[in-house]
Amino acid sequence: MRHLPSLMLAVFLVQGCGDLSEADQIGSETFPIEPHNLLPQYTSANGQIATGVVTGSEGALEQPIGFSHEIHASQLNINCQFCHSEARKSIYSGVPPVQTCMNCHRYVKTDLPEVQKIHQYYCGKNKCGPEDTGANGTPIPWNKVHDIPDYVHFAHNRHIQAGLNCTECHGQVQLQGAKVPMMVTAEDGTVSEQMAVKDVMIRETPLQMGWCLDCHGTHPSIDANYGDQADLRRSELKDCWTCHK
Ligand code: HEC
Ligand code: HEC
Ligand code: HEC
Ligand code: HEC
Ligand code: HEC
Repeated sequence: MRHLPSLMLAVFLVQGCGDLSEADQIGSETFPIEPHNLLPQYTSANGQIATGVVTGSEGALEQPIGFSHEIHASQLNINCQFCHSEARKSIYSGVPPVQTCMNCHRYVKTDLPEVQKIHQYYCGKNKCGPEDTGANGTPIPWNKVHDIPDYVHFAHNRHIQAGLNCTECHGQVQLQGAKVPMMVTAEDGTVSEQMAVKDVMIRETPLQMGWCLDCHGTHPSIDANYGDQADLRRSELKDCWTCHK
């Protein structure tokens, strides 16, 4: 942290979801970021796809790097769309390319093994210099946590442009990674309940048809955005064709 000029931090630590100007989304002269066109990385190294089995604090997916939303989105107050920059523009939100992590972690916390893993993914073909292990130069193979069946049409951009918050559908993501009670196994094999940091993303909402339809029938933005056409819009949003095409 101390290697990073505070001015640089001020440029991209924009608060909250939703109220993001175009300039924030594409970075600035001081801190350029490339809007990426990559589709989200859904598959892990062994080719497994996680299909929506992860709910609650039990059974969270293993991720290749212990990434904490609580540290980044809450303590550091980095805007969701700084990392998930496709959400407003595309049907996908996507996960950030490893370059986004490197913009900070080239300098920040480089002594931590979890951060060194980022360097290993990034370096290689990107020729990083001394820290270049030559190992990979590949995207980080994040496991997918949220997944609805392919026969369902979902579009992030329609929802974000209508003014919905990420948290309405994903829960308190910015608190995930906070300390929670977990069963911890000590070196001598004894198991006890302790407060420990759960670093991985979990799915908080069901993503089932009834959940989509409930909101489509009741969300206040529909009255606000459609006025006397709101009832018509609500029936459109219940039409099977809206989500199954
Ligand atoms: C805007 C700057 C910034 C970006 C972008 C960023 N990080 Fe961080 N990250 C930090 C800072 C600062 C810390 C140290 C927080 C602290 O300990 O106070 C940190 C901490 C971490 C840690 C260590 C957590 C611990 O155990 O202390 C990991 C692992 C990490 N980040 C992974 C990532 C990954 C993966 C990405 C890309 C998806 C990423 N970070 C993007 C600034 C950033
Ligand atoms: C510093 C970058 C960064 C910030 C800021 C960030 N995320 Fe993420 N997000 C990631 C990374 C990396 C992953 C993939 C790893 C994981 O699933 O934990 C991810 C995963 C997710 C996922 C799960 C994706 C899946 O596989 O289904 C959701 C949902 C999500 N983020 C929402 C948010 C929300 C909401 C915010 C703001 C409160 C936010 N993120 C802020 C980097 C970030
Ligand atoms: C209206 C509900 C809703 C809102 C609002 C929403 N999401 Fe999602 N999100 C979903 C659903 C449903 C999926 C699963 C999509 C799939 O499997 O095709 C998902 C998937 C994701 C993923 C996994 C990768 C992907 O693109 O499928 C990320 C990351 C994510 N959301 C981040 C965000 C962020 C960041 C915001 C706020 C800017 C946000 N979401 C707002 C419902 C929502
Ligand atoms: C928290 C509320 C909420 C949830 C949950 C939600 N939606 Fe929506 N959705 C909306 C709103 C509001 C709109 C209307 C946006 C507008 O037209 O301004 C919308 C619009 C859409 C559209 C665009 C329809 C069109 O004609 O352009 C699709 C497709 C869609 N939703 C699919 C889904 C699916 C699939 C799910 C469940 C996986 C889902 N939504 C969950 C609130 C929600
Ligand atoms: C707002 C979006 C949305 C609308 C509108 C919608 N569905 Fe769905 N539907 C989903 C989602 C999401 C799933 C997958 C999750 C699940 O199984 O609940 C699904 C799943 C299904 C399934 C498979 C269920 C299963 O158990 O395998 C059928 C059949 C289906 N929908 C029929 C319909 C019909 C018929 C309509 C119109 C009356 C309709 N849907 C309207 C979102 C929607």
